[in-house]
Amino acid sequence: MNSDDFMDVLRTCCSREQYDALYRESVEDPQNFWAKVAREFHWEEPWKSNVLAFNFNVDNGKVDVSWFAGGKTNMAWNCIERNIQNGCGEQTAFIWEGNNLGEEGKKTYLELQADVNRLANWLKSAGVKKNDAVIIYLPMIMELPVAMLACARIGAVHSVVFAGFSSEALAQRLLGCKAKVVLTCSAVMRGSKHINLKGVVDEACDFAAAKDHAVDHCLCFINARLNSDNHLTQSRDKHWQNEVDQLPRDCETEWMDAEDPLFMLYTSGSTGSPKGVLHTTGGYMIYAGATCASVFNMRQGDVFWCTADCGWITGHTYLTYGPLLNGATSIVFEGVPNYPDAGRCWNIIDKYKVKTFYTAPTALRALQRYGDDFVKAYKRSSLKILGTVGEPINPEAWQWYFNVVGEGRCPVMDTWWQTETGGHMITPLPLAIEQKPGSATLPFFGVEPVLLNENGVELLDEAEGYLCFKTPWPSMFRTLFADHQRYEESYFSMFKGYYFSGDGAKRDADGYYWITGRVDDVMNVSGHRIGTAEVESALVTHAECVEAAVVGIDHPIKGQSIYAFVTLRESCELTNSTRKALVDCVRAMIGPFAAPDTIQRAPALPKTRSGKIMRRILRKIASREEESLGDTSTLADPTVVDTLVELRDK
Ligand code: WTA
Repeated sequence: MNSDDFMDVLRTCCSREQYDALYRESVEDPQNFWAKVAREFHWEEPWKSNVLAFNFNVDNGKVDVSWFAGGKTNMAWNCIERNIQNGCGEQTAFIWEGNNLGEEGKKTYLELQADVNRLANWLKSAGVKKNDAVIIYLPMIMELPVAMLACARIGAVHSVVFAGFSSEALAQRLLGCKAKVVLTCSAVMRGSKHINLKGVVDEACDFAAAKDHAVDHCLCFINARLNSDNHLTQSRDKHWQNEVDQLPRDCETEWMDAEDPLFMLYTSGSTGSPKGVLHTTGGYMIYAGATCASVFNMRQGDVFWCTADCGWITGHTYLTYGPLLNGATSIVFEGVPNYPDAGRCWNIIDKYKVKTFYTAPTALRALQRYGDDFVKAYKRSSLKILGTVGEPINPEAWQWYFNVVGEGRCPVMDTWWQTETGGHMITPLPLAIEQKPGSATLPFFGVEPVLLNENGVELLDEAEGYLCFKTPWPSMFRTLFADHQRYEESYFSMFKGYYFSGDGAKRDADGYYWITGRVDDVMNVSGHRIGTAEVESALVTHAECVEAAVVGIDHPIKGQSIYAFVTLRESCELTNSTRKALVDCVRAMIGPFAAPDTIQRAPALPKTRSGKIMRRILRKIASREEESLGDTSTLADPTVVDTLVELRDK
């Protein structure tokens, strides 16, 4: 097979037989398979003979994965210059659709090149060097992907922090990677809400300064649309437009080793503080490009809309890098799906002739509630492929997406993956894999899922178990920033020799995978990953709260909502104002999206004799399923359960 066309082979895989043959090839000879993909990209220097080296087994030494070692490339070059050289300089790279109707903008690949280089030059003048961390705290304006690409151009490691995180959470991330430079924006509107981002950054920088870490430069994009006041009050503050616009539009590319870091992104785990997931350059790049081509059948010039925020992994791989690697046009949407009304998404699809729409089940459930008329008011005739990500999609939402939004003619790509995996892992392909509503279907090329029982035994055929992976794929994370031990403990110790995802799954008689959700203490609220431990530590910052335990319970729109049990100091009452103050603690420590919906008093929590909180029991109580509590004999004090049921509605 001519390797020059290999991306096209993946893109046009159009029958189950073809998928089966390619899949077999990808797992039998991964080195050759991925080398064929990699040759489709620009490498300044080729990799050494060994495409892949890895150890997944903690008993055999350090867990280590390396793809294309010794090869030199650059993500920004492959996203920008590669397209310009292919004659796409004048084509639109990004379309920006603002929060309010009528606010819009776009950037061609040539304009993108100039903007990325100007900002890269500014970063250099601010002292940022290869491997330095840069924090990006920006709303969904085009400067956000530009900032990511500017870091990539000079080999700086970006860490995008979702602009819904609080100043405490931002400070924690700043301190974690010791960033000297923060890129931000004065303020933004989301729906009808005004958000003062610069204020959050100021607080975070002050907080970091109090912990002996000084941010040297805070580059602030002034959002003129909001007539915002002068936000530049600190000596570290710089005016983005004034500083950057006058800089040269050329900037030398820093050639990176395939295994040099590209970015880190914090995500929630089952215990402790958020984890800095670290992705490297070469493997992540080719996998982002290949999955986009294959799963979304993406071609040069396609208009692709991923509704995720760049603050999450989906916005990294499928809004920024993957589409640009395929020469597509990617939409950056600043607003929310129901503003000014529930027809906004379908309006945008018609306006820009979107071919592929990629969103989260929670958004679909929210829009479904407004009825079909909002959808039918628009043509949606440009749509060819639909996609979902972030949580299991319930069959009702799937049917609505497929039948109403896609009018039965657009296949639905239910893509299962994680911040850690960097790209799609289990997913249909539009032309090759028959769908089943609610199933993420089959593994992507090179991906080898297994289901294990609690003893680590691989289950064959139809089965349900812990979803793990046997072998590495190119875009897997390589470590947790500055904590390789936690990487090994969190992901490779539970089942020796496997990467453990934290999810459970079933495999049916046709070999299709059905994700059942997290099996650890990570919640999924509106597609946001939130650790129970993080919310609990926020709740106990309240002076009256001595202990807290939170669980996620089913919610018809959000997937899960947060239910908190709190033990207050003797003589303290759980009044409405205490409830509000507790919620405020979570908003301040994490952000509004992590606020519990329900807070209940718990004079004591159900614990084992060794003092471990039994969340399984709390989940049953919160979900009003105390009839099916299961075994409670290991509880230190079984009467706790009755008390909690009694207090539930008080
Ligand atoms: C869940 C998002 C079912 C899962 C890309 C996973 C899904 C977590 C799906 C990762 C899906 C993601 N079906 N569950 N199609 N996609 N998940 O890191 O529990 O924010 O472990 O990455 O979301 O969330 P993360």
